[in-house]
Amino acid sequence: MAMGLGLGSVYLLLLCFVLTSCCNGGISSSYSRTNDISADMPLNSDVFALPHGFNAPQQVHITQGDHEGRGVIVSWVTPNEPGSSKVIYWAENSNVKQHAVGSFVTYKYYNYSSPYIHHCTIKNLEYNTKYFYELGTGNVTRQFWFTTPPEVGPDVPYTFGLIGDLGQTFDSNRTLTHYESNPAKGQAVLFVGDLSYADAYPLHDNNRWDSWARFVERSVAYQPWIWSAGNHEIDYLPEYGEGEPFKPYTHRYYVPYEAPGVHLRFGYSIKRASAYIIVMSSYSAYGMYTPQYKWLMNELPKVNRSETPWLIVVMHCPLYSTYLHHYMEGETMRVMYEQYFVKYKVDVVFSGHVHAYERTERISNVAYNIENGLCTPRNDEYAPVYITIGDGGNQEGLLYEMVDPQPKYSAFREPSYGHATFEIKNRTTAYYAWHRNQDGYSVEADSVWFHNLYWKSLSDSSAASL
Ligand SMILES: [Fe+2]
Repeated sequence: MAMGLGLGSVYLLLLCFVLTSCCNGGISSSYSRTNDISADMPLNSDVFALPHGFNAPQQVHITQGDHEGRGVIVSWVTPNEPGSSKVIYWAENSNVKQHAVGSFVTYKYYNYSSPYIHHCTIKNLEYNTKYFYELGTGNVTRQFWFTTPPEVGPDVPYTFGLIGDLGQTFDSNRTLTHYESNPAKGQAVLFVGDLSYADAYPLHDNNRWDSWARFVERSVAYQPWIWSAGNHEIDYLPEYGEGEPFKPYTHRYYVPYEAPGVHLRFGYSIKRASAYIIVMSSYSAYGMYTPQYKWLMNELPKVNRSETPWLIVVMHCPLYSTYLHHYMEGETMRVMYEQYFVKYKVDVVFSGHVHAYERTERISNVAYNIENGLCTPRNDEYAPVYITIGDGGNQEGLLYEMVDPQPKYSAFREPSYGHATFEIKNRTTAYYAWHRNQDGYSVEADSVWFHNLYWKSLSDSSAASL
């Protein structure tokens, strides 16, 4: 074949090389993976092992249980009988044991009947305190622990992990191990959607929802994962009588949502340390006058940046991505909401969905209207950075095809599995790093310092007025 290349083809190749070398805006990493395993781990893998004992609690996971960080929702499953929905808990330096009682739910999904899924909210915890908690009855109790966040305040350091599109493949396990072993020590995970990929199985085999929860228990029983819903949570199968979207997810994963009377099951906000986290739903209605729109219009103006300087948005589908798969799927959401992200100085938007990694420059495309032709994202020092972290491990493999040449607004992109951390230092500064799951635990494949947009705008304007 090579012998068949004419001189014209060689010139064309050279031209392409020069163009891609000269015109790229950011970095398209040349890192080459040594393998591309993306198969699910078999059900008899040790990571899915059942705890010992009759009706032993399993699939234990916690998430923030209120708006301020003094509540925790504890969820778990009992397989044989309902058992108890009670959580016994105590502070590390206290002998006083307290308890909270939750309740359980079950659901059927075609020919699958769920185990007993317990949810119990513990409220009014002390800040910055290690708590132990115990589940189960009789001889079959299991004990875990978590640490509550520091009291909300502008200069409170805090480190979030970022994981998305995790699934239950061999790479999922490697990514989770990397996160657990990362010396940056994430204290809570912002999970950007697509959890178990159970819907990849015939009839959306819900046993894979169970196995996934057993797999991640080793992390999420000990630190909260802040959930957002992805498309693999929809589990829509009307031809088999399963026409209720998000049925397994909504039974298994509770979040602290508000907005009474408004059907907004997946959009909610929390304060945690020095961050204000807004979780949006890519798969709920979001057009003008929808509940999500009204909620966000109410939510953004009330964020007090003197209290929580870091304004972070989480949603599954990215607004900016330069991979060809899912290209511009988030465009209508961008048209709706980017203007508000810019107006309210959102620091960073984390998304998943695209099974690869990408970080943009600070950019916006809000200047565009159909007459001015400014339809290209522009550098905007007060606009968010958009980070796609849909590279947890998934079940469908990595995405390699990208817009070429790399658009200027794309700062770094690479098809590899991994996770990231966002380390808030104080009100003005945070450090972000992405960790490829094939490297050593402390290796940062991409990193950048963040300067808080709100405080930067204040210092810029005071400097300008001098
Ligand atoms: Fe997705």
